[in-house]
Amino acid sequence: MKKYLVTGSYGQIGVALIPAMIKKYGRENVIATGRKKPIPLFKELDVIYRRLDVRDQFGLRSLIVENDIDIIIHNASVLSATGEKNPQLAHSINFEGFYNVLEASRELKIEQLFTPSSIAAFGPTTPLVNTPNTTIMEPTSIYGISKVYIELMGNYYNLKYGLNFRALRYPGVLSPEEPGGGTTDYAIWIFYEALKNMKYTCFLGADVRLPMMMMSDCLKSTFDLIEADDAKLKHRSYNVTGMSFTPEELANAIRKYLPDFTIDYEPDFRNAIALSWPQSLDDSAAREEWGWEPELPFDKMVPAMLDGVSQRLGISYK
Ligand code: SER
Repeated sequence: MKKYLVTGSYGQIGVALIPAMIKKYGRENVIATGRKKPIPLFKELDVIYRRLDVRDQFGLRSLIVENDIDIIIHNASVLSATGEKNPQLAHSINFEGFYNVLEASRELKIEQLFTPSSIAAFGPTTPLVNTPNTTIMEPTSIYGISKVYIELMGNYYNLKYGLNFRALRYPGVLSPEEPGGGTTDYAIWIFYEALKNMKYTCFLGADVRLPMMMMSDCLKSTFDLIEADDAKLKHRSYNVTGMSFTPEELANAIRKYLPDFTIDYEPDFRNAIALSWPQSLDDSAAREEWGWEPELPFDKMVPAMLDGVSQRLGISYK
């Protein structure tokens, strides 16, 4: 069994990924790390958790050596909205942090480095409808620029040093867990506010279409790519998507379950970020090369989110 180290493990994806990894690979083979104290869920699951700031290259290397790590899943990142509020922090965590992980992976001969990229790696000059896997990438957010850096550097280390680098361009990821600092987060907060207050004020405009996927599909794509046979991969970074919708369409779908739900719109700086991102993604490269296929469509996502968020809030809506 391989040994895995996960950075940024208490983020929105980490809190779903770590339990799924423990189930799949065994508790003793998964080392969760992060800058803060372990979250209650990790204590409950007796997760092996170590404190790590990815900017600390010595701490990172010690953990890799002491735990004899084979595969790194590097999730630590400042997301798009937080990045625009603090580009310097985003630079140090997203660029320097990734460089430390990349160099440690090379020097310590890590078997595979997986890291999320994002729809944010695209920008206003990209064809934004059905965005191809290979296309113009001139993002305008610091977060998006860091994702292009990650993709290009990962590819470079693959070509130059044979590092087994793999990345997925996640769209907005939907789960009942509270997200942190992203632009696609509206599509989660809408469920919280609908269930608590029957009303949501959206920070994106009504018609801003973005690609999204349910957490179960995010985890599936991650495991599928990590486990894919290297000989099949013609790319290092792949588009993946599950669905695409606007705030208005999502509000209408929620109204089928909560007829009194209302939404209004007060677009802020995040609207401009969203408008520079793809409306939908062409994920055919992932489908063809390693058999990617999403499982959860829009009409099943809505009741799944209502169930998940209502459970977290202890509210019954049926
Ligand atoms: N969900 C991310 C964000 O909104 C995009 O990768 O920042």
